[in-house]
Amino acid sequence: MRIIFTGGSGKAGRHAVPYLIEQGHQVTNLDLVPLNYPGVRNLRCDLTDAGQVFNAFSAYAGFDELEPGTGVPKYDAIVHFAAIPCILIRPDNETYMINVASTYNVLDAAVKLGIRKVIFASSETTYGICFWDGEKKPQYVPIDEEHPTLPQDSYAMSKVVNEATARSFQARSGFDIYGLRINNVIEPHEYAQNFPAYMENPALRRRNIFAYIDARDLGHMVDCCLKTDGLGYEVFNVSNDDMSVSLTSDEVIAQFYEGVEVKRKMGRHETFYANDKAKKLVGFQPKHSWRDVLK
Ligand SMILES: NC(=O)c1ccc[n+]([C@@H]2O[C@H](COP(=O)([O-])OP(=O)(O)OC[C@H]3O[C@@H](n4cnc5c(N)ncnc54)[C@H](O)[C@@H]3O)[C@@H](O)[C@H]2O)c1
Repeated sequence: MRIIFTGGSGKAGRHAVPYLIEQGHQVTNLDLVPLNYPGVRNLRCDLTDAGQVFNAFSAYAGFDELEPGTGVPKYDAIVHFAAIPCILIRPDNETYMINVASTYNVLDAAVKLGIRKVIFASSETTYGICFWDGEKKPQYVPIDEEHPTLPQDSYAMSKVVNEATARSFQARSGFDIYGLRINNVIEPHEYAQNFPAYMENPALRRRNIFAYIDARDLGHMVDCCLKTDGLGYEVFNVSNDDMSVSLTSDEVIAQFYEGVEVKRKMGRHETFYANDKAKKLVGFQPKHSWRDVLK
């Protein structure tokens, strides 16, 4: 597929974009900075500027596309990852405005230009637990997509608003618009670097619901969404199958989720960030685990 990937130069994108190129997709990366990877076409674009977004979505991706002499080809899909990815990087109002404006622009341009598939990055933070003032327990575990989203912070607020915006654009267009509630993204080198501390002090992972998503498996999830048509508007939790700590699920429940409803019998190391919906609807099958690196 001929796709635009926004934010492809970032932590998640620099693994997801190579994965998509390996699957045979033609990828144009719209970002403020380029991604130096063979086969990626980079276009510097500020997504908060609607004019730049509309222009980039309806432009040639490379000089080779001039050769057939048949005009500008149409993009098949947009994968929108660009964002300010956390609180405390920019002032709260800037984080909110950049994330909300850029996502509105991306969805508006895709719908008006007839690009019928948009996959956008939402976040685990929508459930509120991640950046809550103090400790916030889930209403129930494992957390699935039906769990209420009520965050306190500007970053997660922007993601909740983006989900509502996406749902409205889907209602207008009937196109496929899928939101990924991505858990904490882990790059391959981070297993050896960060995970020993999580084994020693599992409380470090409480705000991430003890889950994680390997950046390469996230690329696989995007590919699954590109290949699955006809779902309309959907959101998906995206996480690996196991927890990011070595405790058993019973130990996590005893230590951290006292009084929280446990909806079903959990596997011994099963994630509390349920990924069943992604598996069932788009065929997501994560392959990586910190256990492959740390013995
Ligand atoms: N990293 C995580 O653990 C995590 C978890 C959940 C959700 N997410 C979401 O996944 C997506 C990717 O996150 P990431 O960790 O790769 O973030 P990142 O900051 O590493 O990458 C984001 C990219 O977006 C680009 N960008 C920012 N503003 C832009 C603008 N106005 N115009 C064009 N490009 C712009 C940046 O230059 C950067 O390359 C984000 O939407 C983030 O909110 C990330």
